[in-house]
Amino acid sequence: MSVAGAQPFIKPMQSPPSVSPGIQRRHTLPASEVRPLNTQDATSVFEIEREAFISVSGDCPLHLDEVRHFLTLCPEFSMGWFEEGRLVAFIIGSLWDKDRLSAEALTLHKPRGSTVHIHVLAVHRTFRQQGKGPILMWRYLQYLRCLPSVRRAVLMCEDVLIPFYQKSGFKVLGRCAITVANLTFTEMWYPISGHAYMRRNSETNNFGVFLICSRVLCVVCSI
Ligand SMILES: CC(C)(COP(=O)(O)OP(=O)(O)OC[C@H]1O[C@@H](n2cnc3c(N)ncnc32)[C@H](O)[C@@H]1OP(=O)(O)O)[C@@H](O)C(=O)NCCC(=O)NCCS
Repeated sequence: MSVAGAQPFIKPMQSPPSVSPGIQRRHTLPASEVRPLNTQDATSVFEIEREAFISVSGDCPLHLDEVRHFLTLCPEFSMGWFEEGRLVAFIIGSLWDKDRLSAEALTLHKPRGSTVHIHVLAVHRTFRQQGKGPILMWRYLQYLRCLPSVRRAVLMCEDVLIPFYQKSGFKVLGRCAITVANLTFTEMWYPISGHAYMRRNSETNNFGVFLICSRVLCVVCSI
């Protein structure tokens, strides 16, 4: 019997693979990260949209150029959830300055508006039915509460999704004036009553607020 055979519970030592520091860094991607999106994320966003919407109805809330448009104009109103560097869920929003949504709201960002128009929430197919959509929405709404100028969030959705958004605290506002092809939508809204402390510190830039809120909320919801 060989020496190795006589010691069955001792596994042979394997020398560690020789890797450069650059390659090692690839393995240190955060397991879970929530951050604002940027234009480099646009393709990943659109891939999720393509599967979630285009393969189902032939269209999607934001086309690739519109994703880039909003991520250029107002990245601070987007939020992406990444698992080991891969986008698994996202929200894209922009500011709107009227009581109700109209067709213009689909393409415009109104920097002086106090309403956040949530254009799209989507979760990657393989990560659905795990509660990620509601968790991301919750974090997004908590983040909005830190922004001094934001008073409410609105979205338009198909009727089948009304209960989903109601569970996140949205209320029905009424029939939406916007139609896409033969689809009709319900408009829903969520009141944003921010933290007084954060509102008083309105000079803080939005990204700073995002970091502060994200850290607090990371602790709260453990992601
Ligand atoms: C809708 C969506 C964001 C939900 O996210 P999720 O992480 O899968 O959410 P959950 O797993 O926590 O499901 C939450 C609830 O929503 C329901 N739900 C999910 N997708 C639904 C849909 N398309 N229609 C109706 N209800 C839906 C689930 O059945 C679940 O109900 P329950 O709490 O009674 O079990 C996700 O399914 C998705 O990205 N869908 C495709 C894109 C889309 O439709 N986005 C919304 C319009 S912008």
